[in-house]
Amino acid sequence: MTENKKVPAHVSIIMDGNGRWARERGRERVFGHFEGVESVRVCTEAAVEAGVKYLSLYAFSEENWGRPESEVSALMELMMKSMKNELKTFLDNDIRFVVLGNRARLGDEMNAAIDNMMELTASNKVLTLILFLSYSGKWDILQAAKRLAKETGGDPEKLAQVGQEEFGRLLVTKDYPDPDLIIRTSGELRLSNYLLWQGAYSEYYFTPVTWPDFRREQFFEALEDYASRDRRFGKVK
Ligand code: IPE
Ligand code: IPE
Ligand code: MG
Repeated sequence: MTENKKVPAHVSIIMDGNGRWARERGRERVFGHFEGVESVRVCTEAAVEAGVKYLSLYAFSEENWGRPESEVSALMELMMKSMKNELKTFLDNDIRFVVLGNRARLGDEMNAAIDNMMELTASNKVLTLILFLSYSGKWDILQAAKRLAKETGGDPEKLAQVGQEEFGRLLVTKDYPDPDLIIRTSGELRLSNYLLWQGAYSEYYFTPVTWPDFRREQFFEALEDYASRDRRFGKVK
């Protein structure tokens, strides 16, 4: 990193390719998810080291509920276990842990574990680690629109007051800045219904490396690439 101002405040990752990583090794898909947990740990450390303030991870999409029940339950179990395992690390390293998404679809046990982790780490300052769970961009925009309809009762005068900033405050991401950099691993060139609103002006970085192989070196490579971008936001310099 040459200049500190070029470090993205918020890095977001679409962690993809776990299944293919495992199948290439003749293993079950879930083995790739296990290995991916280590990449989460390593990238969290790297984010702290680089001075990134927010690291968000697309861990499970609304569409992922449509996977075979055995994979869904293995993933949920793995996430619950990993969260609990990391609590001490989060407390020791001043990391705030947040889960965003359609929480109503997660079980009571999972929601209780999430609430506990979020409460215990709520005042931590060094890094905010956001896990998008049961999330999709269209779901987020739709729940915001429904809340807006309810809150305004459709009153035209109230609706006229709502600009992009006010609408953004109805999204589940309201307390966090939009991502500066969105990374997707495994070579797929799509958003898969991720942060549709919030990613409107993000920089995108696509790499063929699968998630279990995405470690410290690859994370810093992505930050280097970001540092070379010229963000104009539609304006002229
Ligand atoms: C990403 O890896 C993890 C989740 C979506 C939960 P995949 O499970 O999508 O792995 P591939 O893309 O099928 O290889
Ligand atoms: C996107 O990956 C969702 C997550 C990484 C959590 P998927 O593997 O589910 O997306 P598609 O099927 O390639 O679009
Ligand atoms: Mg995938």
